[in-house]
Amino acid sequence: MNNLSFLLSVLKYSITHPGVGRELLKSKYQTWDDSRKKYSIFDYNSKKMELDEILERLFPELKGSFSDLEKNTINLQNHTRIFFDKIKDIDYPSHTKPYPIEYTLDNTSGFFLYVLCKLLKPDTVVETGVAYGSSSMYILQALSENNKGTLYSIDFAFSPWQSEKMIGAAIPDDLRKNWKLIFGPSSQELPKLLPTISPIDVFFHDSLHTFKNMTSEFETAWPHIKKGGFLISDDISGNNAFYKFYSKLNLDPFVLPQKSSPNSFLGILQK
Ligand SMILES: C[S@@+](CC[C@H](N)C(=O)[O-])C[C@H]1O[C@@H](n2cnc3c(N)ncnc32)[C@H](O)[C@@H]1O
Repeated sequence: MNNLSFLLSVLKYSITHPGVGRELLKSKYQTWDDSRKKYSIFDYNSKKMELDEILERLFPELKGSFSDLEKNTINLQNHTRIFFDKIKDIDYPSHTKPYPIEYTLDNTSGFFLYVLCKLLKPDTVVETGVAYGSSSMYILQALSENNKGTLYSIDFAFSPWQSEKMIGAAIPDDLRKNWKLIFGPSSQELPKLLPTISPIDVFFHDSLHTFKNMTSEFETAWPHIKKGGFLISDDISGNNAFYKFYSKLNLDPFVLPQKSSPNSFLGILQK
């Protein structure tokens, strides 16, 4: 699809779906607003830590036994590889490939989410931004092994080629029993959802990575997170939302670099 037909199809869809059009305009404006601000972005390289080190700090009693847990995710990694192999040659954007494959969460971050949920044994996890469902799968695998807990995931169809059906399309059927998909933009759904399920153990942000949206999700979620619970954000290095958020609270996060792109980081904040 060339740029012009891409733009025209989005425009046509926005006219027939005015709610979606409004959301699209909001996200485009926020992205543009971020790009025109010339502030310097905090350099997370000064804070980054290896995955093993972060896990050992959080769960010192389990020192050294994380490789055993990694074995539990091998089936999930194979399942993910097969899913993405099947769609790799399909044209993007299309109904069967509504997101670029690069949207997908890095395996290291996925493994972190799995171990965290496996060991924390959460009752309630909330995430924003699902796409094909990689982060959801890692969390759901832990909930399934724990035999308890619910993952609430928020995402929406923001363009003509996206649909509710394709949100989390890669999540295996046997992991869906602990999953509830909330269909709508996070700015509308998160403030409605949280008071009905509060307190939560883990909040994970991976939706629209603009300063305004990240700040608003962090501020909305934080009061509902249990003491000792976690706020986690993917892609913290695009703007200063995560840095400003934890600095204001006088907290110190863990920062995990992604294997696939070492200048992109997962931010982990414990309450
Ligand atoms: C980076 S992808 C998520 C990747 C996913 N967590 C994974 O592990 O593969 C971003 C997702 O956020 C969703 N999204 C973007 N803006 C959103 C918003 N305002 N509210 C909810 N979801 C949003 C997109 O539809 C897309 O599915």
